[in-house]
Amino acid sequence: MAEKGNTSLSKVTSPSGNITLEFFLTPSKQPAYQVSFKNKKAIDTSLMGFGLKDGPALKENFKVVNTRTSSKNETWDMPWGEQAQVVNNYKEIVVELQEETNLKRQINVTFRVYDDGVGFRYSFPVQENLKEVIIAQENTQFKMTGDHQSWWTPGDWDSYEHVYNHTPISRINAPSKGDPTLAFTSIPENSVHTPFTLKTTDGLYLSIHEANLTDYASMTLLADTSNLSFSSSLVKSDRYGYAVKRTAPFDTPWRTIQVADRAGDLIESKLVLNLNEPNKLGAVPYVHPMKYNGIWWEMHLEKSGWDMEGGRHGATTANTKRYIDFAAANNLKGVLVEGWNTGWDRWTDNARRENAFDFTTPYKDYDLAEVTRYAKSKGVEMIMHHETSASPLNYEKNLDAAYQLMNKYGINTAKLGYVGKLIPEGEHHFGQWMVNHHRRVLEKAAKYNIAINVHEPIKPTGLRRTYPNLISGEGVRGQEFNAWSADGGNPTDHLTIVPFTRMLAGPIDYTPGIFNLKLGGLRPKNSVKTTLAHQLALYVVIYSPVQMAADLPEFYKGIDAFQFIREVGVDWDKSVVLDGEIGDHVSIARRERKTGNWFVGAITDENPREVTIDFSFLEDGKKYKARVYRDGPTAHWDTNPTEYKIEEITVDKQTKHKLKLAAGGGAAISLLTAK
Ligand code: NOJ
Ligand code: CA
Repeated sequence: MAEKGNTSLSKVTSPSGNITLEFFLTPSKQPAYQVSFKNKKAIDTSLMGFGLKDGPALKENFKVVNTRTSSKNETWDMPWGEQAQVVNNYKEIVVELQEETNLKRQINVTFRVYDDGVGFRYSFPVQENLKEVIIAQENTQFKMTGDHQSWWTPGDWDSYEHVYNHTPISRINAPSKGDPTLAFTSIPENSVHTPFTLKTTDGLYLSIHEANLTDYASMTLLADTSNLSFSSSLVKSDRYGYAVKRTAPFDTPWRTIQVADRAGDLIESKLVLNLNEPNKLGAVPYVHPMKYNGIWWEMHLEKSGWDMEGGRHGATTANTKRYIDFAAANNLKGVLVEGWNTGWDRWTDNARRENAFDFTTPYKDYDLAEVTRYAKSKGVEMIMHHETSASPLNYEKNLDAAYQLMNKYGINTAKLGYVGKLIPEGEHHFGQWMVNHHRRVLEKAAKYNIAINVHEPIKPTGLRRTYPNLISGEGVRGQEFNAWSADGGNPTDHLTIVPFTRMLAGPIDYTPGIFNLKLGGLRPKNSVKTTLAHQLALYVVIYSPVQMAADLPEFYKGIDAFQFIREVGVDWDKSVVLDGEIGDHVSIARRERKTGNWFVGAITDENPREVTIDFSFLEDGKKYKARVYRDGPTAHWDTNPTEYKIEEITVDKQTKHKLKLAAGGGAAISLLTAK
């Protein structure tokens, strides 16, 4: 076990004094750090270093050449988001390290210490003995102080679409290579994805992730279940046999550790965003936060198909007009159409999928010009769909033409997809090569004033701050699994975990709003394991500037609870996490930009519970008429999922309102200023 050396100890305390970071060299002169929160140890002595492909590891025999401290306290504006402004307030230390042995290689570590956590990154300066840096493995350790509760998904190199497990650290047993539940992966060991969230016995909440993932491989966390410790495990390219190749000078992504003593504070933290570079794009008037519907769920239910060749084509001009009419009549601004372009007859056929799509050729029964004209006449905008069939080079080849077509028809938003085993062979969805692909797409899209919502994405790492055209993403076991997954669908507690884990990384295109929870018999082995009121609450609980009303228009007919979806906002100037425990329940309130309307969403897991909504977040002296959409008295996710009640109450800052949530249930509340 490493011990603190008696030299080179640097201590930095966050602006309010909450968090203290200590950096030091161990007796073997290996860099190490630890973190405490309100005088409790949050991260124990953790080592740092790199394994290099060519040459000895960067590990021991370092001396501190210099340290520099600084601080910053600024406020920046979000062009769209969960809030209007973000405070970025930290103390920083840069530690310059050099090996004392022959090679005298240099590496710097920068720590930023915030009141809600710590970020640190490595910088490789220009130097004689380290020019091209080929990283076989990064060995950043996160040593825990006990056998904490943890919520994890396997660190699959090709998919984030897994069910969460809840175990103590000592019982983390992620499936690895060869396990059929993994996508196409070569996850070598017992590792987990980030954001990885833990709860200690003395009531601290921790979450480890990364920020500003640029020209580097994604980090998973390798679990050492006997030492209760994690270390960075980078996704490798099997083609090249390493994780990262860079030329000095360069910086790694930030390694982030959020720390809080209230679960909800993890969600309110903007640490990951703050550790990204400021907006590079300037104003992005083409980004339109919006609710949308679309030709999507009907394919997942197998009511229609993506391809025309199969004879049940969903994306016809007539069907699209039906969705446009529904959107226009119901305050949904966007319509997504999947299966509009040729190639869907071969998109999963390994022999033919590499160049399946050109992203510009509509099927014969889909009149793109007419559809966009009709949408415009109804005040609705179309959302483009680009499924790449996991063939990124084919997509890159066609990008200009694809985005020119969108510009021609005034389409500003694209949903991308990367389903399947990655082509070329040997690359993984989350390796450096794909990180760079996604960046090229984002930059190209920005040139064409296009906003991007990526499915099967790289997990978000806060890049939406720098590139605000990156509006949303999947990277979660989304609603679609409820239609077809072999295990019947997402577990009832799924979305009580997601806000404290995946959502810490960024917006989620979960596609809520399924009312026909038993799927109308279309998928007899599957169902949505929540109540209808829970589905409503998701529009507030899950943050995304684009939120789908995912069910089929006919399944919304005559259901007055749909009013909530009509009225709920998507762009916020303030968000408050009222209450929550990971995997049990969560309640969030958000205030809409422009209107000042507040919305509240509360959800529970498989256990019914009573929650108290404390309206002290409201403005002084203001009264609101609140419309409450809640579970009915015998509602239950399995036996009676669609029973709900709507009631009106008057509330102000002093109100505390008790709500009974059914098993798998929820509640949604609209507080409208204008009415
Ligand atoms: C997976 C995406 O998550 C889903 O939304 C989409 O419908 C299919 N891929 C087809 O692209
Ligand atoms: Ca998906």
